Amino acid sequence: MESIINKSRMEKPDNLILVIFGATGDLTSRKLMPGIYSLRCQNMMPEKFSLLGIGRTVMTTEDFRARMRDAIVSSLTEKSPDTGPVDEFVSCCSYYSFDMISPEGYQGLKKLVDGIRKSSSVGGNIIFYYATPPSMYEIISTSLSRVGLADQKDGFRRFIIEKPFGYDYVSARKLNQTMHSLMGEDQIFRIDHYLGKETVQNLLVMRFANGIFEPLWNRNYVSRIEITSAENLGVERRGGYYDNSGALRDMVQNHLLQMAGLTAMEPPSSLDADAIRNEVLKVFQSLQPIREEDVEKQVIRGQYTSSTIRGECIPGYRYEKGVDTHSRTETYVAIKFFINNWRWGGVPFFIRTGKRLPTRVTEVVVHFKPSPHYLFQGTKNNKSDNQLIIRIQPDEGILMKFDMKEPGAGFKVKNVNMDFHYKDLSDIRVPSAYERLLYDVMLGDQTLFSRDDTIETAWKFLEPIQNAWKNNPAIKVYGYPAGTWGPEPSNRLIGDDGLTWRYPCKNLADEESYCEL
Ligand code: BG6
Repeated sequence: MESIINKSRMEKPDNLILVIFGATGDLTSRKLMPGIYSLRCQNMMPEKFSLLGIGRTVMTTEDFRARMRDAIVSSLTEKSPDTGPVDEFVSCCSYYSFDMISPEGYQGLKKLVDGIRKSSSVGGNIIFYYATPPSMYEIISTSLSRVGLADQKDGFRRFIIEKPFGYDYVSARKLNQTMHSLMGEDQIFRIDHYLGKETVQNLLVMRFANGIFEPLWNRNYVSRIEITSAENLGVERRGGYYDNSGALRDMVQNHLLQMAGLTAMEPPSSLDADAIRNEVLKVFQSLQPIREEDVEKQVIRGQYTSSTIRGECIPGYRYEKGVDTHSRTETYVAIKFFINNWRWGGVPFFIRTGKRLPTRVTEVVVHFKPSPHYLFQGTKNNKSDNQLIIRIQPDEGILMKFDMKEPGAGFKVKNVNMDFHYKDLSDIRVPSAYERLLYDVMLGDQTLFSRDDTIETAWKFLEPIQNAWKNNPAIKVYGYPAGTWGPEPSNRLIGDDGLTWRYPCKNLADEESYCEL
């Protein structure tokens, strides 16, 4: 189908019911409801719309509406689109409590949905949103199918699946097989919320709308590419989930590899969803497999330890609620890899992500090769250092670093910045990722959703890393003090001649507070 990237005018989706499984969780309050409300205020919601929240918590529809109202109100900022009456809006919500693992409840759900369709004449289209633990995905899908709710005879059925989609290659493949036995791939929308971020999409526009970058975007001019997604927070209230996941599953398999895909892909033949996703898949298929015996060299994992930051004591990962006190789960991972294709042969890619780093920043850094002969010897490193930095968040924008002459006698060279900030487009509000993605699902546009083959190929690439960590306990989990840029050995990945990662800011932890893992 034609992607809405192709369209400049927004259209209204067809009438529909949105059923959210796990509606009492954080995701619904913090992301989904504010996103839907914002779309409504911009007149981008269907004329007729009903939302049915499902959860195990027993509560009335009135309670649910009050909860959703509070969630929306607390999300509003001065840049939110004109606020319509929130109370009136939440009257489209209702709530149904049942245990989603018991098949009986689904008959009740079917009756309820039929009732809503009659009373609100909203029609036959239904979107199901799985905001539940992944262990529920199969049972929800088979149960919906058993009671006929997955059947498309009177309208479309679409299924939005939150990450993680599987926990390794084998489980992702099995989940895909189960889902495909019940529904078509064109009905499945696997969310990777990074793809909903404006600046991630802007990677495509920046690369393919301008003539100046693309000729340089290859092994002839690029020396290396770094992709960083750093968070300053720890695992917060998600220790239980995170300890069974770790940074590789939580961030690398999806967000970081997708960003690498968009950075490295070839121009798509059109803006069709599949044309774009085919190019990302080709990048994933060209990833040079990391051999199990090379994992120690190419992959560094770390775990944050206690430290003090400006006098405040920050607990180490093993002291977080829900985390095993002997846990070896990685809260940091850095990987060096290559893409074996014509464009990128020999160019190293470095990706890293971690919790409790000094700041929250996500960026892609393209390092260009130095000029072949540096005339201005002795003025600094005797090398030009051109970088293009695409800042995904926060302070979304693009930064170009290049050398200039410092005013005055001689030829003193200084590295300077040319900096574009999205916020300078002052009247433009950057929509949230979920707002954008929900809208796309309503229109049936899968461009910004992960396809079955892409997900499986990404897991396949990570399989030797997962195996090596499982089979070889001698591979170290390095400690890094909370508030620093991760374990020291991760610099070793970048190279021997003094190169390091780009550090957008300094370490925060007070040095005397460092302790071993
Ligand atoms: C989620 C991860 O997918 O992304 C979280 O599960 C992480 O652990 C979050 O904190 C980061 O998202 P963002 O949009 O804040 O960069």
